Amino acid sequence: MKILRDCSLLGHNTFGIDVKAARLVELDSEGEVVDFLKTDAEDRASMLVVAGGSNLLFLADYPGTVLHVNIKGIEVVSQTDEWIDVRVGAGEVWDDFVAFAVANGWYGAENLSWIPGEVGASAVQNIGAYGVEAKDLILNVEVVDRKDASKRCFENVECKYAYRSSIFKGELKGRYLVTYVTYRLRKTPVWHLDYGNIRAILAEKQCPLTLENLRAAIIEIRDAKLPDPKVTGNAGSFFMNPVVAKELFDALKVQFPDMPCYPVSEDRVKVPAGWLIDRCGWKGKSLGRAGVHKNQALVLVNLGGATGEEIAALAREVATSVMQKFGIEISPEVNYIG
Ligand code: EPU
Repeated sequence: MKILRDCSLLGHNTFGIDVKAARLVELDSEGEVVDFLKTDAEDRASMLVVAGGSNLLFLADYPGTVLHVNIKGIEVVSQTDEWIDVRVGAGEVWDDFVAFAVANGWYGAENLSWIPGEVGASAVQNIGAYGVEAKDLILNVEVVDRKDASKRCFENVECKYAYRSSIFKGELKGRYLVTYVTYRLRKTPVWHLDYGNIRAILAEKQCPLTLENLRAAIIEIRDAKLPDPKVTGNAGSFFMNPVVAKELFDALKVQFPDMPCYPVSEDRVKVPAGWLIDRCGWKGKSLGRAGVHKNQALVLVNLGGATGEEIAALAREVATSVMQKFGIEISPEVNYIG
């Protein structure tokens, strides 16, 4: 266990916002999580849990305790000829787990290559990319209750997964600390190649379809669109893709014939926020030290030394112009703190 007072959170948020926490606590094992919750009553209710900090926007210094569950370890817990169950510590870097799965010839996680963040957050946020979501792989999520330090295991269906959401972000927000996530991966291929330009990139490279090649293609696509947070602070997609009534979409389509959509149900469609923001002319524009990424309008960037408030101000302007032009409300995928 590591406890630091008045600690910089620069290394704990990929936006690179320079704020401080009154206390930062690193917990390295399930035992430490339980012990800490049993013995440390200090501001228990207001404790903030961070993982890789890739989905957070700090608006101010955090006056309470920031907790990081840094449990490591990747362990095979059961397998058949078809599948393999892998239990992973919440503090493992997500992409290290994907690389490990690919290296072992286990299928399922490869489309989620190069997503920043940690394993614990993958289960809270239901991370997703290129036609796959974490929920498609998760078997169960082990947690410790903040109230009484008791352990509990949520099966996949109990997690109430939805687009970038789960019970841990919804009705049980703030109640549990994730310690381990068990993923069920496949021993035979289940390819998801129809999203975006995956097929085109594989064809262009003229390389056979293998786990390694697919991972390399996904990394190439992401690299081209998403800035490296080590160089330019960002949190990936800043906004969620809004779901709108098909009626509204059909009316807008008359005015904007190239407006893309993904069907969600009979009467609702998802519209790419990146497209909406781009059409409002925001790509590459900035407001103070906060900018809209030049290659992908869905990504807001820290141009250097921006405060969380500056990023939030830009986000407000962007959302307002999307509302004015299209009558569609877009909401942040990023969690605001403070
Ligand atoms: N588009 C534009 N201009 C832009 C950006 C996008 O016209 O500046 C258009 C594209 O041409 C395309 C559509 O909008 O027709 C969708 O764009 P893109 O594929 O780039 O983004 P997305 O599909 O909306 C989602 C996730 C990403 C994930 C990709 C790939 C959300 C909010 N974002 O983006 O997730 O990597 O799909 O599956 O769901 C993240 O959550 O941090 C993230 C990066």
